[in-house]
Amino acid sequence: MAIEIKATGKSVPSTRLTNDDLAKRLATSDEWIRSHTGIEARHIAGGETACSDLALEAAWAALTMALGQEGCEAKSLEEIALTLDIIIIGTATADYYGCPSTACIIQDKLGARNAAAMDIAAGCSGFIYGLETAAGLLSIGASRKRALVIGADVLSRFVDWDDRGSCILFGDGAGAVLIEKTGNLSTGPDKRGLLRTILRADGSGSEHLVIKRGGSRNAFKPGETIETIPHLEMNGRAVYNFAVKAVTEIIEGLLKEERITIDAVSRIVPHQANARIVAAAAKRLGIPEGKFFLNIKEYANTSAASIPIALDELNRTGELHKGDLIMTVGFGAGLTYGGNLIVF
Ligand code: UT7
Repeated sequence: MAIEIKATGKSVPSTRLTNDDLAKRLATSDEWIRSHTGIEARHIAGGETACSDLALEAAWAALTMALGQEGCEAKSLEEIALTLDIIIIGTATADYYGCPSTACIIQDKLGARNAAAMDIAAGCSGFIYGLETAAGLLSIGASRKRALVIGADVLSRFVDWDDRGSCILFGDGAGAVLIEKTGNLSTGPDKRGLLRTILRADGSGSEHLVIKRGGSRNAFKPGETIETIPHLEMNGRAVYNFAVKAVTEIIEGLLKEERITIDAVSRIVPHQANARIVAAAAKRLGIPEGKFFLNIKEYANTSAASIPIALDELNRTGELHKGDLIMTVGFGAGLTYGGNLIVF
């Protein structure tokens, strides 16, 4: 049995906010942002667009790709949606607080009546956690065959746009993959699909990336006037140091567990948080930076969406080929971190 990625999709809002646009209202500059992060622009969702709206577009894109493939038994998007057994979305910016889950909203709009649906709260590692969770559920459920794994976030709605230390980093977007349980093997010379995953967390760092208001710890009170919207508070330096260690640890761990060297890996698809984090980890590991796929320049940090958006870009530009071994690696609020090793 193998759990294989069959199709990918993404959705990025059309409104593009450049560093120069930000510099018009903040004490920052294109030069500072580029040199400290590798970011040139980010895409921002319009006021009416919620997390599930972007996620839905990415989901339809993945299902459309699957429909066009040889051997797909479904004849229409409606039919293929009905074949879904699981929908999982990793997000830190759900449509609603706690209930209903964003995955249930997506399930309804897709017409995926046969699918279980749930959200995963693992910050920017949400897609990595979601992929492993979905693969596990497919593996243990004899009748389950197909899952949609989405990473989507609208962090522009939860950043303090007056805080130059954090707001410059984030953009909105969604990415999705359709995975399927097949008769191929996930071990041996012809191994396919998701080979292994490492999931880790260090909750002692939870204060370093936190939206403090609105939850049960710090709920809004009747009559309270709030001065700022609930927003992400970030200790950038602490997250940076954690991230470099996390990326290094996960890459080394996946290679060791799979008993391979980095030469066997075609591409590393890292969470797109800061190009300097990737460069620092690459240097520590002695891996050429070119092995890492980066699109942070255009989209900034789209949180849980960054890895599936990158996978979709690589897939659609023909840079990924069937049989390529790829590695994802990410980190985020929680603090969480992890990575997947996948034969595409
Ligand atoms: O998905 C995970 C999400 N979070 C992350 O990945 C964050 C990881 N951390 C980072 O990427 C970096 O720490 C940042 C990009 C956020 C900040 O870069 P840094 O090199 O760590 O800068 P810093 O916070 O140490 O600040 C250095 C200086 C400070 O000025 P002083 O005190 O030296 O005068 C900041 O006030 O840079 C200043 N600064 C800025 N200047 C211009 C901070 N942000 C800006 C800015 N424009 N946007």
